[in-house]
Amino acid sequence: MPDPAPQPSRVPAHVGIIMDGNGRWAEARGLPRLEGHRRGAERLIEVVDAAIDHGVRCLTLYAFSAENWRRPAEEVGGLFKLGEWVLRLHLSRLSKRRVRFRTIGDLTAMPEFIRIPIEEAVASSRDNTGFDLVIALNYGSRQEVTRAARSLAADAAAGRLDPAALDWETLASRLETAGLPDPDLIIRTSGECRLSNFLLLQAAYAEIVITPTYWPDFGAEAFAAALREFAGRERRFGMTGVQVRPTKPAP
Ligand code: IPE
Ligand code: IPE
Ligand code: MG
Repeated sequence: MPDPAPQPSRVPAHVGIIMDGNGRWAEARGLPRLEGHRRGAERLIEVVDAAIDHGVRCLTLYAFSAENWRRPAEEVGGLFKLGEWVLRLHLSRLSKRRVRFRTIGDLTAMPEFIRIPIEEAVASSRDNTGFDLVIALNYGSRQEVTRAARSLAADAAAGRLDPAALDWETLASRLETAGLPDPDLIIRTSGECRLSNFLLLQAAYAEIVITPTYWPDFGAEAFAAALREFAGRERRFGMTGVQVRPTKPAP
Protein backbone atom coordinates (compact mmCIF):
# COMPACT_ATOMS: atom_id res chain seq x y z
CA MET A 1 0.00 0.00 0.00
CA PRO A 2 1.34 3.47 -0.79
CA ASP A 3 1.63 5.84 2.14
CA PRO A 4 -1.53 7.86 2.80
CA ALA A 5 -1.37 11.39 1.45
CA PRO A 6 -0.13 13.97 3.91
CA GLN A 7 -2.90 16.19 5.28
CA PRO A 8 -3.35 19.09 2.87
CA SER A 9 -2.01 22.23 4.49
CA ARG A 10 -2.40 25.82 3.43
CA VAL A 11 1.10 26.77 4.57
CA PRO A 12 4.01 24.84 3.07
CA ALA A 13 6.27 23.29 5.73
CA HIS A 14 9.30 23.49 3.45
CA VAL A 15 9.86 26.06 0.69
CA GLY A 16 12.77 25.93 -1.74
CA ILE A 17 13.74 29.03 -3.70
CA ILE A 18 15.76 29.16 -6.90
CA MET A 19 16.96 32.74 -6.61
CA ASP A 20 17.43 33.64 -10.25
CA GLY A 21 17.66 36.78 -12.38
CA ASN A 22 20.32 38.88 -10.64
CA GLY A 23 22.30 39.22 -13.86
CA ARG A 24 19.31 40.28 -15.97
CA TRP A 25 18.20 42.71 -13.25
CA ALA A 26 21.61 44.39 -13.49
CA GLU A 27 21.85 44.24 -17.29
CA ALA A 28 18.42 45.92 -17.61
CA ARG A 29 19.85 48.85 -15.64
CA GLY A 30 23.21 49.00 -17.38
CA LEU A 31 24.93 47.81 -14.19
CA PRO A 32 27.57 45.11 -13.75
CA ARG A 33 26.23 41.61 -12.94
CA LEU A 34 27.83 41.71 -9.50
CA GLU A 35 25.67 44.71 -8.63
CA GLY A 36 22.65 42.49 -9.32
CA HIS A 37 24.08 39.85 -6.99
CA ARG A 38 24.67 42.50 -4.31
CA ARG A 39 21.09 43.74 -4.53
CA GLY A 40 19.87 40.15 -4.48
CA ALA A 41 21.91 39.41 -1.37
CA GLU A 42 20.38 42.46 0.34
CA ARG A 43 16.88 41.05 -0.18
CA LEU A 44 17.65 37.69 1.40
CA ILE A 45 16.87 38.57 5.00
CA GLU A 46 13.47 40.03 4.09
CA VAL A 47 12.41 36.72 2.54
CA VAL A 48 13.78 34.67 5.46
CA ASP A 49 11.83 36.89 7.90
CA ALA A 50 8.69 36.55 5.78
CA ALA A 51 8.99 32.76 5.74
CA ILE A 52 9.32 32.62 9.53
CA ASP A 53 6.45 35.07 10.02
CA HIS A 54 4.15 33.03 7.75
CA GLY A 55 4.75 29.83 9.74
CA VAL A 56 6.98 28.06 7.21
CA ARG A 57 9.29 25.65 9.10
CA CYS A 58 12.11 25.24 6.61
CA LEU A 59 13.51 27.33 3.78
CA THR A 60 16.11 26.08 1.31
CA LEU A 61 17.86 28.77 -0.70
CA TYR A 62 19.70 27.80 -3.86
CA ALA A 63 22.69 30.10 -3.56
CA PHE A 64 25.30 28.48 -5.83
CA SER A 65 24.91 25.46 -8.04
CA ALA A 66 27.58 22.86 -8.78
CA GLU A 67 27.38 24.14 -12.37
CA ASN A 68 27.86 27.81 -11.43
CA TRP A 69 31.65 27.23 -11.36
CA ARG A 70 31.38 27.58 -15.15
CA ARG A 71 30.98 31.32 -14.70
CA PRO A 72 33.91 33.77 -14.87
CA ALA A 73 36.19 33.46 -11.82
CA GLU A 74 35.58 37.12 -10.96
CA GLU A 75 31.81 36.57 -10.71
CA VAL A 76 32.24 33.38 -8.67
CA GLY A 77 34.65 35.12 -6.26
CA GLY A 78 32.28 38.09 -5.96
CA LEU A 79 29.36 35.81 -5.15
CA PHE A 80 31.30 34.09 -2.36
CA LYS A 81 32.37 37.44 -0.86
CA LEU A 82 28.73 38.56 -0.86
CA GLY A 83 27.71 35.31 0.81
CA GLU A 84 30.22 35.80 3.59
CA TRP A 85 29.13 39.45 4.04
CA VAL A 86 25.44 38.55 4.24
CA LEU A 87 26.09 35.80 6.77
CA ARG A 88 28.16 38.09 9.02
CA LEU A 89 25.56 40.87 8.73
CA HIS A 90 22.57 38.79 9.79
CA LEU A 91 23.95 36.01 11.96
CA SER A 92 23.06 37.47 15.37
CA ARG A 93 19.57 38.46 14.22
CA LEU A 94 18.95 34.97 12.85
CA SER A 95 20.18 33.29 16.01
CA LYS A 96 17.79 35.51 18.02
CA ARG A 97 15.01 34.14 15.81
CA ARG A 98 16.23 30.63 16.76
CA VAL A 99 17.18 29.76 13.21
CA ARG A 100 19.13 26.54 12.72
CA PHE A 101 21.57 26.69 9.80
CA ARG A 102 22.26 23.78 7.58
CA THR A 103 23.94 23.39 4.20
CA ILE A 104 23.55 21.01 1.31
CA GLY A 105 26.18 20.69 -1.40
CA ASP A 106 29.90 20.01 -1.39
CA LEU A 107 31.35 22.57 1.00
CA THR A 108 34.85 21.08 0.79
CA ALA A 109 35.42 22.84 -2.54
CA MET A 110 34.51 26.25 -1.09
CA PRO A 111 37.21 28.77 -0.12
CA GLU A 112 37.98 28.86 3.61
CA PHE A 113 36.89 32.46 4.12
CA ILE A 114 33.29 31.38 3.52
CA ARG A 115 33.42 27.71 4.47
CA ILE A 116 34.63 28.31 8.04
CA PRO A 117 32.03 30.96 9.03
CA ILE A 118 29.31 28.74 7.58
CA GLU A 119 30.53 25.70 9.50
CA GLU A 120 30.64 27.83 12.66
CA ALA A 121 27.07 29.08 12.07
CA VAL A 122 25.88 25.49 11.55
CA ALA A 123 27.63 24.34 14.75
CA SER A 124 26.50 27.26 16.93
CA SER A 125 22.87 27.03 15.81
CA ARG A 126 22.62 23.25 16.15
CA ASP A 127 20.18 23.37 19.09
CA ASN A 128 17.90 26.05 17.64
CA THR A 129 14.47 24.74 16.89
CA GLY A 130 12.59 27.75 15.54
CA PHE A 131 13.27 27.39 11.84
CA ASP A 132 15.61 25.53 9.49
CA LEU A 133 17.50 27.67 6.99
CA VAL A 134 19.20 25.45 4.45
CA ILE A 135 21.77 27.01 2.13
CA ALA A 136 22.38 25.04 -1.07
CA LEU A 137 25.99 25.86 -1.85
CA ASN A 138 27.95 24.10 -4.57
CA TYR A 139 24.83 21.94 -4.69
CA GLY A 140 23.59 19.76 -7.52
CA SER A 141 20.94 17.08 -7.24
CA ARG A 142 22.73 14.68 -9.58
CA GLN A 143 25.98 15.04 -7.62
CA GLU A 144 24.07 14.46 -4.35
CA VAL A 145 22.39 11.32 -5.68
CA THR A 146 25.70 10.07 -7.09
CA ARG A 147 27.35 10.47 -3.66
CA ALA A 148 24.44 8.63 -2.02
CA ALA A 149 24.65 5.81 -4.59
CA ARG A 150 28.39 5.53 -4.00
CA SER A 151 27.95 5.17 -0.25
CA LEU A 152 25.16 2.60 -0.68
CA ALA A 153 27.28 0.63 -3.16
CA ALA A 154 30.19 0.64 -0.70
CA ASP A 155 27.91 -0.69 2.05
CA ALA A 156 26.58 -3.39 -0.26
CA ALA A 157 30.10 -4.41 -1.32
CA ALA A 158 31.14 -4.65 2.35
CA GLY A 159 28.11 -6.83 3.14
CA ARG A 160 26.46 -4.17 5.36
CA LEU A 161 23.51 -3.67 3.00
CA ASP A 162 21.35 -6.18 1.18
CA PRO A 163 20.74 -4.66 -2.30
CA ALA A 164 17.32 -6.34 -2.44
CA ALA A 165 16.31 -4.53 0.76
CA LEU A 166 17.21 -1.07 -0.57
CA ASP A 167 14.12 1.14 -0.53
CA TRP A 168 13.38 4.83 -1.00
CA GLU A 169 13.64 5.57 2.75
CA THR A 170 17.17 4.15 2.83
CA LEU A 171 18.20 6.11 -0.24
CA ALA A 172 16.57 9.30 1.12
CA SER A 173 18.48 8.84 4.39
CA ARG A 174 21.75 9.14 2.40
CA LEU A 175 20.71 12.35 0.67
CA GLU A 176 21.96 15.59 2.19
CA THR A 177 18.38 16.58 3.02
CA ALA A 178 17.98 13.57 5.36
CA GLY A 179 15.70 14.51 8.24
CA LEU A 180 14.11 17.46 6.43
CA PRO A 181 10.58 17.28 5.06
CA ASP A 182 10.33 17.21 1.26
CA PRO A 183 9.76 20.67 -0.19
CA ASP A 184 6.06 21.43 -0.60
CA LEU A 185 6.70 24.50 -2.70
CA ILE A 186 9.52 25.44 -5.06
CA ILE A 187 9.63 29.08 -6.13
CA ARG A 188 11.73 30.17 -9.09
CA THR A 189 12.20 33.84 -9.83
CA SER A 190 13.01 35.42 -13.22
CA GLY A 191 10.50 33.42 -15.26
CA GLU A 192 12.74 30.46 -16.10
CA CYS A 193 10.71 27.24 -16.10
CA ARG A 194 13.32 24.68 -15.04
CA LEU A 195 14.76 23.15 -11.89
CA SER A 196 18.45 23.50 -12.84
CA ASN A 197 19.56 20.46 -10.79
CA PHE A 198 17.78 21.62 -7.58
CA LEU A 199 16.24 18.97 -5.26
CA LEU A 200 15.12 16.83 -8.20
CA LEU A 201 14.05 13.79 -6.16
CA GLN A 202 12.85 15.67 -3.08
CA ALA A 203 10.59 17.86 -5.25
CA ALA A 204 8.72 14.85 -6.67
CA TYR A 205 5.39 16.25 -5.40
CA ALA A 206 6.33 19.87 -4.80
CA GLU A 207 4.11 22.58 -6.20
CA ILE A 208 6.14 24.87 -8.45
CA VAL A 209 5.54 28.60 -8.62
CA ILE A 210 7.38 30.55 -11.30
CA THR A 211 7.36 34.31 -10.98
CA PRO A 212 8.66 36.69 -13.66
CA THR A 213 10.14 38.94 -10.94
CA TYR A 214 13.94 39.04 -10.87
CA TRP A 215 15.40 37.99 -7.52
CA PRO A 216 16.58 41.50 -6.49
CA ASP A 217 12.94 42.67 -6.75
CA PHE A 218 11.52 39.65 -4.89
CA GLY A 219 10.54 40.65 -1.34
CA ALA A 220 8.07 39.85 1.43
CA GLU A 221 5.02 40.74 -0.66
CA ALA A 222 6.12 38.55 -3.59
CA PHE A 223 6.79 35.71 -1.16
CA ALA A 224 3.30 36.11 0.32
CA ALA A 225 1.86 36.03 -3.22
CA ALA A 226 3.66 32.73 -3.89
CA LEU A 227 2.21 31.30 -0.66
CA ARG A 228 -1.26 32.40 -1.76
CA GLU A 229 -0.78 30.66 -5.09
CA PHE A 230 0.33 27.52 -3.23
CA ALA A 231 -2.72 27.69 -0.94
CA GLY A 232 -4.99 27.69 -4.00
CA ARG A 233 -3.39 24.59 -5.53
CA GLU A 234 -4.91 21.14 -5.24
CA ARG A 235 -2.30 18.56 -4.34
CA ARG A 236 -3.19 14.99 -5.22
CA PHE A 237 -0.20 12.73 -4.55
CA GLY A 238 -1.47 10.31 -7.18
CA MET A 239 -5.05 10.17 -5.94
CA THR A 240 -8.25 11.56 -7.39
CA GLY A 241 -9.28 15.05 -6.36
CA VAL A 242 -12.22 13.68 -4.34
CA GLN A 243 -9.97 11.49 -2.19
CA VAL A 244 -7.65 14.35 -1.34
CA ARG A 245 -10.17 17.10 -0.58
CA PRO A 246 -10.36 17.63 3.19
CA THR A 247 -13.75 17.05 4.82
CA LYS A 248 -13.25 20.20 6.88
CA PRO A 249 -11.40 23.29 5.65
CA ALA A 250 -7.81 23.26 6.91
CA PRO A 251 -7.22 25.76 9.73
C1 IPE B 1 21.05 34.01 -9.85
O1 IPE B 1 21.12 35.02 -10.79
C2 IPE B 1 22.28 33.95 -8.97
C3 IPE B 1 23.08 32.73 -9.16
C4 IPE B 1 22.88 31.81 -10.04
C5 IPE B 1 24.21 32.57 -8.27
P1 IPE B 1 21.85 34.82 -12.19
O2 IPE B 1 23.27 35.31 -12.06
O3 IPE B 1 21.71 33.45 -12.70
O4 IPE B 1 21.05 35.84 -13.10
P2 IPE B 1 20.65 35.67 -14.62
O5 IPE B 1 19.93 34.35 -14.76
O6 IPE B 1 21.92 35.70 -15.40
O7 IPE B 1 19.77 36.83 -14.90
C1 IPE C 1 20.21 28.20 -10.79
O1 IPE C 1 20.28 29.33 -11.57
C2 IPE C 1 21.20 28.26 -9.67
C3 IPE C 1 20.95 29.27 -8.64
C4 IPE C 1 19.94 30.08 -8.56
C5 IPE C 1 21.94 29.31 -7.60
P1 IPE C 1 21.14 29.38 -12.92
O2 IPE C 1 20.98 30.76 -13.44
O3 IPE C 1 22.53 28.92 -12.66
O4 IPE C 1 20.40 28.32 -13.81
P2 IPE C 1 20.44 28.10 -15.39
O5 IPE C 1 21.88 27.92 -15.78
O6 IPE C 1 19.84 29.33 -16.02
O7 IPE C 1 19.59 26.89 -15.63
MG1 MG D 1 20.33 32.53 -13.89
